[in-house]
Amino acid sequence: MKYQGLCIGIPKEIMEGENRVAATPTTVSRFVEEGANVVVQEGAGLGAFIEDHEYAAAGARMEADVEKIFQEADILLKVKEPMVNETLRKHEVDLMHKGQVLVTFLHPANPGNHGMVNALAEKGVVSLSLDSIPRISRAQSMDALTSMSTIAGYKSVISASVMLPKFMPMVGTAVGMIQPAKIFVVGAGVAGLQALATAKRLGAVVYAADVRPEAAEQAKSLGAKIVETGIPPDQAVGEGGYAKHLPDHLIQSEREAFRDILRDIDVVVLSALVPGRQAPILVTEAMVESMPRGSIIEDIAIDQGGNCSLTEPGKVIKKHHVIINGTKNIPGSVPVTATHMFAKNIMNFVAILAKDGRIDLDMNDEIVRSAMVTLDGKLVHEGALEAIKAMEGHA
Ligand code: NAI
Repeated sequence: MKYQGLCIGIPKEIMEGENRVAATPTTVSRFVEEGANVVVQEGAGLGAFIEDHEYAAAGARMEADVEKIFQEADILLKVKEPMVNETLRKHEVDLMHKGQVLVTFLHPANPGNHGMVNALAEKGVVSLSLDSIPRISRAQSMDALTSMSTIAGYKSVISASVMLPKFMPMVGTAVGMIQPAKIFVVGAGVAGLQALATAKRLGAVVYAADVRPEAAEQAKSLGAKIVETGIPPDQAVGEGGYAKHLPDHLIQSEREAFRDILRDIDVVVLSALVPGRQAPILVTEAMVESMPRGSIIEDIAIDQGGNCSLTEPGKVIKKHHVIINGTKNIPGSVPVTATHMFAKNIMNFVAILAKDGRIDLDMNDEIVRSAMVTLDGKLVHEGALEAIKAMEGHA
């Protein structure tokens, strides 16, 4: 059996407002069937409405003392990167041990996480980051980033519909026809396409822009009217088909291309992202000022700095008669679905890390190699190493 005798630990997430958890009773029972001893912290699932007795019925042992879970686990599954546990006054990395496997979102290139990933290396923890799993077809069922973007795209439109001082759909009434809201989605990747599909279902008129012709085509097939960015595809699309970092003059011309439509739009969903980079600023203060009164910007690219210059991380603000939503961790606000998807993704990923009751890390496997952050006491993640070098260059 794959996990015979291996201990899989599921601690409760400790980040403020984090309601997700890394396993569900369904995934626990799958691990147990394959021979694992699964230990779950008491109360770990409550944020996602999963009771302790449900985990226990699936074959998990419930444990009140999180330090014991960190000691016992061969494989630790988490949602968020290790951070300080304020109750214990200890950093989660300090609770880990040499040779232990940690699987979670680590965002290792993010400067705020450099100290933490170096500490993982020093401890000898084998850490793998879900955000570095390549977007290839074999890894689709493991791609937690895609799952979470799907949720962020959906929830951004729902949240806008709650704040919008208008109807979303066209509604026929005794006093005449009420016109539908207009929604403009910038960046038609995973999150953007889900935002478009959700807006369409709510009855809005949808517009979309993306620098990748393929993405614009997908947006069109969802019923969106395409707003041309004016950027030639050969300058916009780089290696692996991803969007490239654009020079200032091209970003400037894209802003020009959006100027007219923004004067007439009710909701803008901003999800334009260039992998491994700060999100481009596509909406400036002057453009916000030009938007209709009561309109809304959902800047879901906020974790990468945001696509609007006025967005404040983690806050909903009102500037120049426009509401700008910079909420972070949107998937955490849909914890049941987010946990269901995340737990399945992480289970599918862990399945390629173990064989016949032992940890088996195949560095020839592109998925394992890309996700690996620390191994044998070293930081091995390319993006993180590059980012650290760049920071040192700036110092
Ligand atoms: P993705 O890489 O699938 O999509 C990004 C899209 O932006 C791509 O289609 C790309 O071509 C496009 N793009 C890049 N530069 C552009 C430009 N200058 N103009 C127009 N389009 C441009 O990424 P995904 O997974 O859809 O994520 C999108 C954003 O949503 C990211 O910033 C991500 O971090 C964020 N997100 C936020 C969450 C939250 O809780 N706030 C949760 C999940 C995702």
